[in-house]
Amino acid sequence: MTERTLVLIKPDGVERGLIGAIVARIEAKGYGIERLELVQATGDQLAAHYAEHEGKPFYPPLVEFMAAGPLVALVATGHGVIQGFRSLAGQTDPTTAAPGTIRGDLGRDWGLNVQKNLVHGSDSEESAAREIAIWFPEA
Ligand code: RTP
Ligand code: MG
Repeated sequence: MTERTLVLIKPDGVERGLIGAIVARIEAKGYGIERLELVQATGDQLAAHYAEHEGKPFYPPLVEFMAAGPLVALVATGHGVIQGFRSLAGQTDPTTAAPGTIRGDLGRDWGLNVQKNLVHGSDSEESAAREIAIWFPEA
């Protein structure tokens, strides 16, 4: 069965005009794009998506940031795509994310109480299945 991962181009990536640049990196790597949609996240979607972070200090600003404007939800496919996209994205903190990664090349620290780091990628098969169902419930 084809491996799938859920990628979000977060509102900072959309606002900065980086949808094309980010999608291009996924395509250039050789992964497929199975679904892609520009959406305004609802509170319910974000609560479900970030349930593991509820109660952490960055949770309220994270949810506010993710609802601040439209984001792109997409499903990328290919052998190893879950780990492969995490590798393309780079470390969570854009300051230390390696050059060559999305966060390392295109992101920076803006001095806020949450890291605006351009993209999200599922971190396991279980997360991918759960997250794809949140953003593409009809899939
Ligand atoms: P993601 O889930 O978005 O792919 O990112 P991640 O696994 O690299 O990071 P995670 O630990 O799951 O955190 C989710 C998102 O919360 C924001 N964050 N800000 N201390 C901070 O300022 C902080 N810590 C986390 C980031 O947007 C991170 O991607
Ligand atoms: Mg995460």
